[in-house]
Amino acid sequence: MNVLLIGSGGREHALALALTQNPATKLFVAPGNPGTAQIATNVVLDVADAQAVIAFCHVQHIDFVVIGPEQPLVDGLVDALEAAGIKAFGPSKAAARLEGSKGFTKDLCAKYNIPTGAYQKFAEREAALAYAREKGAPIVVKADGLAAGKGVTVAMTIFEAEQAIEDLFGGAFGAAGAECVIEEFLQGEEASFFALCDGNKALAFASAQDHKRVGEGDTGPNTGGMGAYSPAPVVTEAIAQRVMDEIVNPTVAAMKAEGCPFKGVLFAGLMIGKDGPKLIEFNTRFGDPECQVMLARLDDDLLNLLLACAEGRLPERVNLSPKTALTVVMAAQGYPGTPKKGGGIAGIAEAEAEGAKIIHAGTKIDGETLVANGGRVLNVVALADSVSEARERAYRAVDALKFPDGFCRRDIGWRALNR
Ligand code: AMP
Ligand code: GLY
Repeated sequence: MNVLLIGSGGREHALALALTQNPATKLFVAPGNPGTAQIATNVVLDVADAQAVIAFCHVQHIDFVVIGPEQPLVDGLVDALEAAGIKAFGPSKAAARLEGSKGFTKDLCAKYNIPTGAYQKFAEREAALAYAREKGAPIVVKADGLAAGKGVTVAMTIFEAEQAIEDLFGGAFGAAGAECVIEEFLQGEEASFFALCDGNKALAFASAQDHKRVGEGDTGPNTGGMGAYSPAPVVTEAIAQRVMDEIVNPTVAAMKAEGCPFKGVLFAGLMIGKDGPKLIEFNTRFGDPECQVMLARLDDDLLNLLLACAEGRLPERVNLSPKTALTVVMAAQGYPGTPKKGGGIAGIAEAEAEGAKIIHAGTKIDGETLVANGGRVLNVVALADSVSEARERAYRAVDALKFPDGFCRRDIGWRALNR
């Protein structure tokens, strides 16, 4: 089967590794990275141009397209592919509103009784300011649309909330900030939960925990994620069941009832508080780096699972290893600001000899050498019987890498270890 995978990050290298486990897969990745180049054919293609993607699919007889990142989903790439008779993994444009519009998701939760923080939507600055002042801090201010992970302010003071509202309506996020959601501050422990969906039903896939802040002890600015592990111990079997019963299954039923059935992977960002799980937000794709750790635990054929989502024939269960997978992200100095590009990377074979897998994200080949080419550069992934063993193994591999212009957090997994 000829498969085209869209994306270039660590998530896509992990997806490529899992998809090529199926010997029938002939994989192309657009644009890919040096990691995917080792196991698939990287192709130069403007993935924002649906007609160019469709033309490539016709020329290469692509049977199935797997879309990694959110932007092409929100832009309607799945709709365009399906209209051209090409099967794809991921939600339609209408269903991707679960990620593309926070207001859409909050209204859906309100209509279908899905537990989430109290909120109101605003298209106008004065009304937003008045509501925030009336509610008081802490309070959360969110741009409605996609803002590359930067559209959310958890305001601990009213001053911060006012500042965030001024920024939003001042155009800091362009069209994504033309509307905003102001939301109750939720307390508890954050976790991520992933379910595969085929439009009619959902299958629990795995839980994970991310480390969003750049600094140790969860300090400093937010990033795309500095490390993750799966499973997340806070998501006990009882909590996972509640997430399926109270959040995931009602959402799949609601999307079907609204005429935009959800196919693909539903990524629920959760706050687990004393009254159980509440939804913080949905994403409509795999998390990065959560995907890397979940797929390290997968004991099933990923290609068949993703095809089953697209074809409306989800199986009853999925086999995941009970072991813990943990990943440490190696980032380039400067990240999440302007990362230093071009720093040399060596020692990958030595790192893998420590029992970890090195996944590429922002790397490129410059002449003969592998160099940094983005903020998050590599993921060091280890699978072991416990969080502490996985963490030791991952850091032994980190120490075998030679990437002087890189850095990582040294405390990935602290929450699980503290338990
Ligand atoms: P989001 O982009 O919606 O995931 O928000 C980014 C981060 O902001 C989340 O991972 C949480 O840490 C935090 N956050 C978002 N909404 C809330 C909320 N209602 N209460 C507390 N923290 C929140
Ligand atoms: N690691 C968080 C995300 O992929 O959104």
